[in-house]
Amino acid sequence: EQVFQGRSLLAEKDFTREELEYLIDFSAHLKDLKKRNIPHRYLEGKNIALLFEKASTRTRAAFTVAAIDLGAHPEYLGKNDIQLGKKESVEDTAKVLGSMFDGIEFRGFSQKTVEDLAKYAGVPVWNGLTDEWHPTQMIADFLTVKEHFGKLAGLKLVYVGDGRNNVANSLLVTGAILGVHVTICAPESLFPNEELVEMAQKFAEKSGSKIEITADVDKGVKAADVLYTDVWVSMGEEDKFAERIELLAPYQINMEMIEKTGNDDVIMLHCLPAFHDTKTQYGQEIAETFGMREMEVTDAAFRSKHGRQFEQAENRMHSIKAIMAATLGNLFIPKV
Ligand code: CP
Ligand code: NVA
Repeated sequence: EQVFQGRSLLAEKDFTREELEYLIDFSAHLKDLKKRNIPHRYLEGKNIALLFEKASTRTRAAFTVAAIDLGAHPEYLGKNDIQLGKKESVEDTAKVLGSMFDGIEFRGFSQKTVEDLAKYAGVPVWNGLTDEWHPTQMIADFLTVKEHFGKLAGLKLVYVGDGRNNVANSLLVTGAILGVHVTICAPESLFPNEELVEMAQKFAEKSGSKIEITADVDKGVKAADVLYTDVWVSMGEEDKFAERIELLAPYQINMEMIEKTGNDDVIMLHCLPAFHDTKTQYGQEIAETFGMREMEVTDAAFRSKHGRQFEQAENRMHSIKAIMAATLGNLFIPKV
């Protein structure tokens, strides 16, 4: 039985621990093939639509390169290129795209949009980030952790920062499914929503993972194997800079926080893009307006031996390749 064939990846909660582990290990396998120049054209002749309502560097690049490596043709459809949700309903767009393309990636605001696309397109749909979840990111992240530690279950991953965003949501649920202990360390007003914590608790009971939600940095980061952060202001909420800086300044990853883990082998992850300096014009404007040069991570921590964010970014490509090949490829995957 082929359990992945034809499926969409909309949220991590729809996949079992074994299935997520399979995708992580399959990503490692495809990474190895790529490094050894061994062809892996599982999507020969397929056509993939890449829909983006929000900006992207990694996700767009990863889907594009992964599709081409797999023998497929990727077609980028940006927010100003198509009618989606403006002059044409999501349902109609999905039916049209589904009749031409073999698979669809969607990045945008509403989770409902990606769910409706999957409902009406009749082909696999992959969530490339919504306001709620970032599932393709998770396969890359836990691959990066597994490459470093050789295992996942029993490790302690601490996410510090905005505890209510897509990446925090995804880490909490995915870690809980995989048996990774997850701590969300955030100010109380940015704690993850209760329904989500309950969902994670249920997964954790099954996997043996421990879930902790705390505002206390010293307690939260202690004995961390992985320190993870993300931007304080996600795409679409740029008006929240001032309040977030005030709330989140104590949750910045810096060398002092890394020392507080008490673990010299701790790794630092960030899904990127990161706000760790003022080298961009945007960075300079924010720095001038709010008087803060570094936000969620300091440049020193970012560049330290702990920072694994660029390996993590590369892994986006290998893992997106695995996700597309598993759900759309002409390959047999035994039931896991
Ligand atoms: N991490 C991530 O999704 O990066 P992009 O926004 O550049 O795709
Ligand atoms: N939380 C961030 C992640 C970017 C990859 C955002 O949604 O903007």
